[in-house]
Amino acid sequence: MNSKRLLALAEMIDLNDVVLDVGCDHGYLSIYLKQNKLCQEVYASDVNINALNMAKENIKKAKVKIKTFLSDGFNNIDVYFDTAVIAGMGSHTILKILNSEKSPSKLIICSNNAHEFLRKNLNIMGYKIIEEKVIYENKHYYIIMKWIKGKQKLTKTELKYGISYNKDYFRYLINKNKELLKKVPITQKIKLYSEIHKLKGLIEKK
Ligand SMILES: C[S@@+](CC[C@H](N)C(=O)[O-])C[C@H]1O[C@@H](n2cnc3c(N)ncnc32)[C@H](O)[C@@H]1O
Repeated sequence: MNSKRLLALAEMIDLNDVVLDVGCDHGYLSIYLKQNKLCQEVYASDVNINALNMAKENIKKAKVKIKTFLSDGFNNIDVYFDTAVIAGMGSHTILKILNSEKSPSKLIICSNNAHEFLRKNLNIMGYKIIEEKVIYENKHYYIIMKWIKGKQKLTKTELKYGISYNKDYFRYLINKNKELLKKVPITQKIKLYSEIHKLKGLIEKK
């Protein structure tokens, strides 16, 4: 598997995990986990029949056995799992999926957007964040998070910027804010200056 992002997701899986790969799409992560015996069991699911068929095809080609499910989130999952990987979706979709009695004790998540909103809500839903990585691939920063059931008081800074303290990512955010400064009206500039100041502080601190 040559995706740094998918490899980082796989690294967060523990050997005794029973994993459900939600929104498996191509199925590459599930196949990699199975081929390398990186977890106790892995299941692959997707809400889209074409995606699931592609995963089934790839599973067949890889000559591994992985049970697949056509399912919106956990709705049609009738097997036990204790870990859900949910990657490549937006935070609203991820939270909608997790608003379920079947939500497991461990989550490996890579959202496309709204990370602060996601952290806040996962925390409210009774999860604590235990690991976070920032991966740079294809000119894009991906944030990968590992959550387990439990209580945790996250600071405003942790909710906004996470717990990875990746300096390159912070520099990228500073530059993004600088670009925005050129476009927004004066009333919004103060907020951006304050963010840049906060990010510079974080870079110097760690
Ligand atoms: C961009 S792909 C990501 C594939 C893979 N997880 C990855 O990270 O490379 C997103 C996949 O999530 C699926 N998906 C979106 N909403 C879903 C839902 N509610 N339940 C299950 N799968 C969903 C889509 O059909 C699509 O195949």
